[in-house]
Amino acid sequence: MQADFNYLRKMVNSLSHNVLDPSRDYLFETRLARLLRSREMSHIGELVEQLRGQRDAALERAVAEAMTINETSFFRDGRPFELLRTELLPSLIEKRMSTRKLRFWSAACSAGQEAYSLAMLLREHFPLLASWEIRIEGTDFSAEMVARASAGRYHRIEINRGLPARSVVRFFEHQGEEWAIKPELRRMCNFQQADLCQTPLPLAERFDVIFLRNVMLYFSNESRRKVLAEAHRLLAPDGVLFLGSSEQPADLSQWNPVLIGGTCHYTPKAQLTNRNIA
Ligand SMILES: C[S@@+](CC[C@H](N)C(=O)[O-])C[C@H]1O[C@@H](n2cnc3c(N)ncnc32)[C@H](O)[C@@H]1O
Repeated sequence: MQADFNYLRKMVNSLSHNVLDPSRDYLFETRLARLLRSREMSHIGELVEQLRGQRDAALERAVAEAMTINETSFFRDGRPFELLRTELLPSLIEKRMSTRKLRFWSAACSAGQEAYSLAMLLREHFPLLASWEIRIEGTDFSAEMVARASAGRYHRIEINRGLPARSVVRFFEHQGEEWAIKPELRRMCNFQQADLCQTPLPLAERFDVIFLRNVMLYFSNESRRKVLAEAHRLLAPDGVLFLGSSEQPADLSQWNPVLIGGTCHYTPKAQLTNRNIA
């Protein structure tokens, strides 16, 4: 059994870069239960035997996806959203008056609640932006999460976590057991699958605001360093980065931490590249 867990941990790490702690091997049983059922397998040993037997990229990927933690909610840890509303967005809007464009990235977007929370914040508090070009990009390793985010449909329990009633009424349509995000917000968001550790990421334009929250805690130090360097590359020089409340860059040579509004965000330090030396 231990050998099977070792095999699975290694495989998950090579695919999603998530580091699974051996003390939590019991999680394999619960997280892989659905996959085992769908493949008509009765236990983990059978799954590992199949994985060892012949290369099955789809099955490997399904295991790695099933082992990701997708915990999220609307307006999770509300302080970054509050700070955006009161200080950061008014200042960014002022600076972007000439281009009338704003770009947001929910890196590791899970089922999309973070991206749609940003969309709701913009619609509710910044009506001026209705005529601007606003893009909220959501990326995640898990194809299932990207599909859920793209569908924009949520169960009552998910809606009840973090959403004020007035936002539910204004931004969602009740459809049977679920609530669907209204097209006006759906149109502001685009979701795609991307592994944060496969750099450079295929994202063309720089972002004004990056939410890279509650994902680096699953990575090794080396992967964290790589992902933060990529976030730095993809952030506008006057943009802002939010990490999860328990996350911070190990190395502050690229980042200025700014502690206001009961939360910490990061602004990028300028880098000496050939371009800005010249
Ligand atoms: C705990 S959720 C965080 C969601 C959201 N950012 C939040 O703070 O509520 C972590 C997400 O990271 C995704 N993830 C894990 N490894 C990843 C990787 N290598 N690249 C991109 N996303 C990854 C998982 O699929 C999961 O949806």
